[in-house]
Amino acid sequence: MPAAFSSHVSVPNRNCSRRSRRWRRKQRKTLESTTDAILVTDEQGVITDFNENLVEMWRIPREIMDSRQHRLLRDAISQRFENPRQYDSRIDEIYSAAAPQTSDVLELADGRVIERFSKVQSVEGRIVGRVWTFRDITERRLTEQALIEADRRKDEFLSVLAHELRNPLAAALMAVRLLQQKGPPDPTLQNLRAIIVRQTLLLSKLVDDLLDVGRITTGKMRLEKKHVALNTILKEAAEVCTLLIERRNHTLSVQFADPSLSLYVDAARIVQVVSNLLNNAAKYMNDGGQIELAASEEDGNAVIRVRDKGFGIPREMLDRIFQRFVQISTPGRSVDGLGIGLSVVKALVERHGGTVEAASEGPGKGSEFVVRLPVFIKTNE
Ligand SMILES: Nc1ncnc2c1ncn2[C@@H]1O[C@H](COP(=O)(O)OP(=O)(O)OP(=O)(O)O)[C@@H](O)[C@H]1O
Ligand SMILES: [Mg+2]
Repeated sequence: MPAAFSSHVSVPNRNCSRRSRRWRRKQRKTLESTTDAILVTDEQGVITDFNENLVEMWRIPREIMDSRQHRLLRDAISQRFENPRQYDSRIDEIYSAAAPQTSDVLELADGRVIERFSKVQSVEGRIVGRVWTFRDITERRLTEQALIEADRRKDEFLSVLAHELRNPLAAALMAVRLLQQKGPPDPTLQNLRAIIVRQTLLLSKLVDDLLDVGRITTGKMRLEKKHVALNTILKEAAEVCTLLIERRNHTLSVQFADPSLSLYVDAARIVQVVSNLLNNAAKYMNDGGQIELAASEEDGNAVIRVRDKGFGIPREMLDRIFQRFVQISTPGRSVDGLGIGLSVVKALVERHGGTVEAASEGPGKGSEFVVRLPVFIKTNE
C-alpha cells in the first residue's frame, strides 16, 4: 500500500518538476529575448535573475555574476560613472524608501545614456525583491539634442532675418510716405502708393511679430511697467484694430470695466495682447460679424474677454493654437499670417503673471478668449 501510494504520488511530482523546468526554460528565453537589460534582486541583496544584455551593457566580469552578490554588481556598475558614489547612494535611497516604482536617466562616463526603471516584486503584500530594467537611449538622446539644436538655429535664423528686414522696410515706408505727400496727385498713382503703404505696414507687423518671438525665446523681452487704467488699454486696442474691423464690416461692442480698475503692466504689450485677439476675431469670421470686447474684475484679477461669432475652434486645437506656427487649416479657406500671434499673446500675458484661455463650442460656433491679469500689482522689475 505505501509503495503503491508512493508510486502514485511520485508520478505527478515528476510531471510537476518537468513542467516547472519547462516553464523555467521558457521564462529564461523570454528574459533573453527582450531588448532591455534586466536584473532581479531579492531583499537580501542576492541576484536572483538577469539576462545577457545586462552583462554586455555594463561589461560585468562573469565571476561577479556567478557570485550572485548585488553588492559586487553595484560596485562594478558604479565604476562606469564619473561619480560612482552618486550612483551607489541613489540605489541605497531606492531601497530605503522601498519605492514601489522608480525611473532615472543615467549618464555614463563613456557618453552613453541609460534609462533605468525598477519595480518591487511582492508576494501577498510582502516585498520580496526588485526588478531592474535598463534601456540604452543614447541614440534617442542624440536625436533629441539634434532637434533642440535645429530648433534653436531656426529661432536664431528667424531673429536675424527679422532684424535684417526691419531697416529696409522702414526706409521703404518712409520713402512711400514722402511720395504720398510730394508725388504727382494722379488718383491711380495715389491708389498704388496707398497699396504700397498698406502692404509695407503688413510686412512690418510680421517682422515685428518675428522679432517678439525672438525676444521671447531668448528671454530678452523687457517690460516697461507702469500704472494704467484697464479701460485705456481696451480703447487703444480697439483703435489699433478699427481699420480691419471696418474693412470686414464687423461691429465691435465694448463693455468697459469699472473706471477705477488699473493694472501695473507694460501698457503697449497688453494693448498688443488685446489687439492680437481682436485681430484674430476679425480675421476668423465671415464679413459682417459681431465682436465683443469686455473687461471686468473677478477675484482680484482683471478679466478681458474677446468673443466672436466666427469660425470657432475644434476642441483638440484649443490649447495647441497657442504654440508657435500652429494654424487651423480648413479646406477652402486660405491661411494668412505666420501663426505666431497667439504664442506672443500667451508669452506676454504669462510674463505679467496672468493666464490666457481659449474656448469654443466647436467649428462654426464662434470663439472666446479670456485673459486674466493681476490688478494693482507693483513689482520692482
Ligand atoms: N478667434 C478665432 N477664431 C477661430 N480661430 C482662431 C481664432 N483665433 C485664432 N484662431 C486660430 O488659431 C491660429 C493661430 O492664431 P495666431 O494668432 O497665433 O496666428 P495667425 O492669426 O494665423 O497668424 P498671426 O501670426 O498673423 O497672428 C489661427 O491661424 C486660427 O486658425
Ligand atoms: Mg493672429
